Amino acid sequence: MANPSLLILAGDGIGPEVMAEVKKIIGWYGEKRAIRFDVSEDLVGGAAYDVHGVPLADETMARAQAVDAVLLGAVGGPNYDVLDFSVKPERGLLRLRKEMDLYANLRPAQCFDALADFSSLKPEIVAGLDIMIVRELTSGVYFGEPRGIFPDNEGGRVGINTQRYTTEEIRRVARSAFELARRRNNKVCSMEKANVMESGILWREEVQWVHDNEYPDVALSHMYADNGAMQLVRWPKQFDVIVTDNLFGDVLSDCAAMLTGSLGMLPSASLGAPMANGRPKALYEPVHGSAPDIAGQGKANPIACILSFAMALRYSFDLGDEAARLEKAVEKVLADGVRTADLMGPEGGTPVTTAEMGDAIVAALDASL
Ligand code: IPM
Ligand code: MG
Repeated sequence: MANPSLLILAGDGIGPEVMAEVKKIIGWYGEKRAIRFDVSEDLVGGAAYDVHGVPLADETMARAQAVDAVLLGAVGGPNYDVLDFSVKPERGLLRLRKEMDLYANLRPAQCFDALADFSSLKPEIVAGLDIMIVRELTSGVYFGEPRGIFPDNEGGRVGINTQRYTTEEIRRVARSAFELARRRNNKVCSMEKANVMESGILWREEVQWVHDNEYPDVALSHMYADNGAMQLVRWPKQFDVIVTDNLFGDVLSDCAAMLTGSLGMLPSASLGAPMANGRPKALYEPVHGSAPDIAGQGKANPIACILSFAMALRYSFDLGDEAARLEKAVEKVLADGVRTADLMGPEGGTPVTTAEMGDAIVAALDASL
């Protein structure tokens, strides 16, 4: 049987540096566990713009559709701020999400014990935290029409975006959340603004419908998203799975990420419908951005990108035990006090480089055998 295929799109800024460490991990699995992948690479974001004049070439899009999973680094950078909106680096990522129809974005926020002191919140609030945000990723205000900047009638301009959700768009992401909850602590909290938005009322009703008809065994609650933001920093352990729309999910997941001590720790999986081989369409990427301020200096934390690969092992390749092995290796390295610059506490110390962190994780994998 052919090896499963991976397309690596390292992208911009720190993307290539952190992805280099993921390649070490992929190599380790091939060599030590006989789990081999056919890996190809291509360009996305500013890196693609520099070569093709667009942030995602059609050939790259076609390759992404054809592989078993895409691993993405990060997109964006100050060089590209001046570009026309339609060719900005972020458009490449949004095209991948939309055309692959990756509607369920899983963003776990887990606090490693060794890092409980690094959160901006008190350690007792975050120690042992383990929540999963499920963000709708292919609809809502990110894609709704009409959109644009138009002249108004007073000689000024008007900027328009449209928040739009259909029954089926809400139901399918709600199902993803309920399925995950069943394998966790069986609790879903749905967040919207049903107090001010009709799309929020529909969201609440459809999530409730999926619950009542298909998942009555899972505990469901609803919360306004602003209250949700407040509750996330007040007492985050009240949550198990949070399901929310594209824009609220973008904001709430950054907030949840910081609970864990560093944005450099948070992986994500973006999943769509099953392909012919039964595997879901899938793209894995760290939640952090391209961090142009530290790019090329060997300072970036590769853990978010490495944990994204662990999610690929679990969700695309049904290798949950191997994913857990990789997650434990990361945990061990952190417990041993290995720290990249973003994980330095006030007491200081000497940070390791991006490559040294990758090597330490490989060594911990070796020790796991
Ligand atoms: C994210 C990012 C993206 C988003 C950007 C880069 C388009 O912030 O994945 O959270 O807004 O979805
Ligand atoms: Mg974001």
